[in-house]
Amino acid sequence: MQQQVFNQTICVYDFDDYAQLETKVAMDNILDELFALPEVINKENVDDAQGGRAFSTVHLSQSLVIPEILNFKQTRLGVWILRNLYQSAQALGLDKTRNIKKMKYHRTWVNRMTKGCDAVAHRHAGEDWSIPHLVAIFYTQVPDESADLIFIDDDNFELMRGASAKEYPLDKQYKIASKAGRLVCHDAKAFHATSVHNSDLPRSCIIIEVGFPPR
Ligand SMILES: [Fe+2]
Repeated sequence: MQQQVFNQTICVYDFDDYAQLETKVAMDNILDELFALPEVINKENVDDAQGGRAFSTVHLSQSLVIPEILNFKQTRLGVWILRNLYQSAQALGLDKTRNIKKMKYHRTWVNRMTKGCDAVAHRHAGEDWSIPHLVAIFYTQVPDESADLIFIDDDNFELMRGASAKEYPLDKQYKIASKAGRLVCHDAKAFHATSVHNSDLPRSCIIIEVGFPPR
């Protein structure tokens, strides 16, 4: 499903019966192992995450390629994510200038936020960046009172990082609820944040940045 959010096209897909997915337990275990790595536990929060502890493998994205670790090409979920990434690239009109059949991972990582944490507004690419073009977020673990994704209406593409979502007027915010099994794809230049994570249980997601060569 695609929707217009301020000047951006945002695509949202929900995997049917995600809780019953045959590979879910194995995938959750792999993610738990990644979040337990000393290089992850001993790394301070990324600059975007504040207010509570957040874990991320983003600084390891060169060596930990999440779609390969999770075997995306061979699993029902992985194939579904890749297919929807392709559809999103079409929906965003990237096929007009790019060969979207030749998708390349830019950075891929997993994030886990704990109680009190939120992500401040940020972009994954600036105005004249050649890559990435598209960002996908797949939510694997979303307890009640989790942080939601919030797009912020701001076209100043030179501004790469902003404030907490609550600092922006309500009419400049557009919330997309986070949900286990949900995939959200957006233009890498879209400005977005999260609300505060209010659950005692963590919220986890996979982030995939992709780029496409010129046509
Ligand atoms: Fe982001």
